[in-house]
Amino acid sequence: MELAKRVKELPPYLFVGISKAIAKKKEQGIDVISFGIGDPDIPTPNKVLDRLKKASDNPAHHKYPESEGLPEFRQAVSNFYKNRFNVDLDFGTEIINLIGAKEGIAHAPLCFIDPGDKAIVPNPAYPVYEIGTMFAGGETVFIDLLEKNDFLVDFTSIDTKLAKEAKMMWINYPNNPTGAIANLDFFKEAVEFCKEFDIALMHDACYTEVTFDGYIAPSILQVPGAMDICIEFHSLSKTANMTGWRVGSAAGNPDLINALMRVKSNIDSGLSQAIQEMGIEALSLSKDWINQNNDIYKKRRDKVVSTLNEIGLDANAPKATLYIWTKVPEGFTSASFTEKLLEEANVVVTPGNGYGKAGEVYVRLSLTIPDDQIDEGLKRLSKLNLK
Ligand SMILES: Cc1ncc(COP(=O)(O)O)c(C=O)c1O
Repeated sequence: MELAKRVKELPPYLFVGISKAIAKKKEQGIDVISFGIGDPDIPTPNKVLDRLKKASDNPAHHKYPESEGLPEFRQAVSNFYKNRFNVDLDFGTEIINLIGAKEGIAHAPLCFIDPGDKAIVPNPAYPVYEIGTMFAGGETVFIDLLEKNDFLVDFTSIDTKLAKEAKMMWINYPNNPTGAIANLDFFKEAVEFCKEFDIALMHDACYTEVTFDGYIAPSILQVPGAMDICIEFHSLSKTANMTGWRVGSAAGNPDLINALMRVKSNIDSGLSQAIQEMGIEALSLSKDWINQNNDIYKKRRDKVVSTLNEIGLDANAPKATLYIWTKVPEGFTSASFTEKLLEEANVVVTPGNGYGKAGEVYVRLSLTIPDDQIDEGLKRLSKLNLK
């Protein structure tokens, strides 16, 4: 039996290789400190868990959910957009629930890409933008995010022929893996560019609530006219330490949202309603709770950046996200440096090339492990000889 080309050509998901490397070390009795995957170590808040306990007793939630999600969930997302971004959204037509943002991101290309169509994807980037395009039979054209441009897309560098051909484009700020942030002027430029060339603009906004130093991340839907061409993806995974519960949302232009809903309704039957209730609760977490959560990451960020600088790496403290993106020393690639850290320090980082070719001379460290492990990992790194 022959597997489909799309499966044969599918690279292993980035973190599968990393998990294997960790497991191998464990078999040898070596404990590894992993700054790999961005999966919060801090538990889901009690208030959110309590809501699940109550919601699971409701027989209405024992049935198939609707693909678009509970009206109450969508209303809670609408309230979040109003309170947080001063954006008015109709929960009936402009918002849907997702089984984690990843699900919506992977399915979105099915709405815009026919076989052979082009999608513009930043590089480095969350790998699912490219893979979703490939599943839809499309072609990904990468646009490099350069350090000299603060890892923002330079729209003037995009070839006009490509822009005319492209059907969709992805952007993601605050950005994984670079930690870069964007302001409303940048989003305005993105909207103008995509409007000019009739491109569906997808903004992955999964890290808007994980911010530091007083930075407040905007939503692209604040830009006048963005609602004509955009979908914005949100997730409670990182905002509320809920990666395991899989709660996300998509908001934006009603026709685009409806297209995503129609695709979804033929593939999945929505997210468990009891878990959507957790989402409703998480969307009402207080600013104080969010600040306290972010303070934990901020302290870790500062420690990690300071150790990396001490050992001669050029790391900067990002104003958002859970990641430190740092250049590898001269003479290394992202893979050879990752290997050195694993072999000589028993520390795992994510090689930048996992996010695309433009990540080749970088590695990413995630801040989602407990403080004692961060301290131990940094102790190991500080003993490294990088010469
Ligand atoms: C940029 C980006 N988008 C989307 C996701 C997926 O979020 P979710 O857990 O809601 O599927 C991640 C998770 O790491 C991410 O980094």
